[in-house]
Amino acid sequence: MSVPAGREPQFTVLAAALAGIRPTGRTVVLRGDPGMGKTALLRAAEAAARHAGLRVLRMTGAEAETGLAFAALHQVLWPLLDDSHVLPPAQRAALESALGVRDGTPPEGFAVAGAALDLLARAAARRPVVVLLDDLQWADRVEGPFEGEPLPAGQRA
Ligand SMILES: Nc1ncnc2c1ncn2[C@@H]1O[C@H](COP(=O)(O)OP(=O)(O)O)[C@@H](O)[C@H]1O
Ligand SMILES: [Mg+2]
Repeated sequence: MSVPAGREPQFTVLAAALAGIRPTGRTVVLRGDPGMGKTALLRAAEAAARHAGLRVLRMTGAEAETGLAFAALHQVLWPLLDDSHVLPPAQRAALESALGVRDGTPPEGFAVAGAALDLLARAAARRPVVVLLDDLQWADRVEGPFEGEPLPAGQRA
């Protein structure tokens, strides 16, 4: 996918982050009013990441899912869940309960975050992982690895 017209400076920042993903990882927050082209930039970044051989995990926030615990984490980790058997049993149980793929009371956010981080780290040890979070302002409000101080609606991608 080509870079959206006029967004070369922003794409350069994203491309630099992708190039710098080894060995320590990078984080970029894209902010802007609705319609300014955040999703389009993310699509371009996704194409670049795949072209570079990186593993892409993605989440798109939806207002209707804001109240659903762990909905955002579910989207991000779904492609990795086949590997959840490699986690220590307690971690695996915490994560799978949280994501609704096994019975049980969803555990504390902290336990889920640890398990999620472990799963991501194991995946990243095989191939660098890029996590793209679009419309993060609609992510559920359960404490998790992606939770921080919320920015105003429409301000994050
Ligand atoms: N650089 C650009 N030039 C022209 N149109 C664009 C550009 N970036 C985005 N668009 C278009 O503008 C609309 C809004 O873009 P989008 O990426 O969805 O914005 P946001 O995610 O910030 O709300 C879409 O129809 C998209 O195709
Ligand atoms: Mg968008």
